[in-house]
Amino acid sequence: MTSHRFSAQGPLTGRIRVPGDKSISHRSLMFGALAVGRSRISGLLEGEDVLATAAALRAMGAVIEKDGDDWIVDGVGVGTLLQPGQALDMGNSGTSTRLLMGLVASHGITTSFVGDESLSKRPMGRVIDPLSMMGAGFTPSPGGRLPLMMEGMQPAVPITYRLPVASAQVKSAVLLAGLNTPGTTTVIEPVPTRDHTERMLRGFGVDVQVEERDGERVISITGPCDLTPCDITVPGDPSSAAFFAVAASIVPGSDLIIENVGLNPTRNGIFEVLGQMGASIEYLDAREVGGEPVADLRVRHAPLKGVEVDPAIAPRMIDEFPVLFVAAAVADGTTVTSGLEELRVKESDRLAAMAASLSLVGADIEEREDGLVIHGSGGTALPGGGPVATHLDHRIAMSMAIAGHASRDGVEIDSAEPIATSFPNFNELLKDATS
Ligand code: S3P
Repeated sequence: MTSHRFSAQGPLTGRIRVPGDKSISHRSLMFGALAVGRSRISGLLEGEDVLATAAALRAMGAVIEKDGDDWIVDGVGVGTLLQPGQALDMGNSGTSTRLLMGLVASHGITTSFVGDESLSKRPMGRVIDPLSMMGAGFTPSPGGRLPLMMEGMQPAVPITYRLPVASAQVKSAVLLAGLNTPGTTTVIEPVPTRDHTERMLRGFGVDVQVEERDGERVISITGPCDLTPCDITVPGDPSSAAFFAVAASIVPGSDLIIENVGLNPTRNGIFEVLGQMGASIEYLDAREVGGEPVADLRVRHAPLKGVEVDPAIAPRMIDEFPVLFVAAAVADGTTVTSGLEELRVKESDRLAAMAASLSLVGADIEEREDGLVIHGSGGTALPGGGPVATHLDHRIAMSMAIAGHASRDGVEIDSAEPIATSFPNFNELLKDATS
């Protein structure tokens, strides 16, 4: 591990374009692999997590190659994925693991899943439970974790499953298993989560039924399904844009345009909360890209005030809390967050990691079981310091990089390497925006 210092820097200006959406990139490769024929993807995120998905799909028979700036996927079709020759290495990626476990569950495949130290601590019981009900067999490590061995069942059994946690990964795992399951597989979502799976499966010609029943979302597919190959344009990742939106909001003199930001209503909570805090965000040239709403964001520095964040918005910005905590740390007044237990089982325990990191660089934080209470500095730059521990978590690393950028003396993070999992050119864009 090599530590990295993010020193105090001036305003962010000009135009930047963030890389493709991670969630959409994973799904575009997986659905391309399940279609018979060639799909073309433009704007794919070439981060380590997405490349782990590509490698696993190759091991199961898909041909995935780069063609100029695009990627092409020659799929093998639903029901005909091949038995991989070795363990599927998921690196740091929970999305790859959980969604691919869904795919394997309804194929006659026996395989093991392995991952790095962070991924090996994360709970897999949430997907093992429904996929076992569909007939798959699992031998996990203690606590329902990786490394694990699983045995798919072909034909699997269709189920109706109400999500016990608000998780798009669990929803998607069950729906992906349903693609090769005869009969109707239904997922009931008490709280809506990101809907990229539903949207994109429709683009691949699958009849995805979605209805509202008693305030819940009921999503059904009837398998086995045929996927028709298609061309996909991946919009920019709002989770990546969020780091720059916060940076431009808190560094005096900033006026930055972030191009091509996906604004799917199940993902745009961070921009709404920043707006409530007083951030200046303009939405320019609103349009649709790849079936998703997109705009360019113009973000100008503005004094922020502390807010009480409605826990109901959490699923719409679940990955953006670490950087929201950075914004709150320099706001005027107190920000209260709650209902965030899920943050404790991400790439790291993000409540503990951000509380420790921000406190170390001079912020005033109280950690509660389900959230952080942050007493803002009133616009004064945090002193800085470090090194802070990033726990192999890309979003802790980038959040603390932004904290360093806006600090008095800079922030040192123990390792910048995790950033490559989701945002390989983060440092370069941060330099571009400040030069
Ligand atoms: C994702 C869902 C979310 C999110 C993750 C990506 C997805 O996880 O945190 O970064 O692509 O479906 P959960 O489903 O565990 O909330």
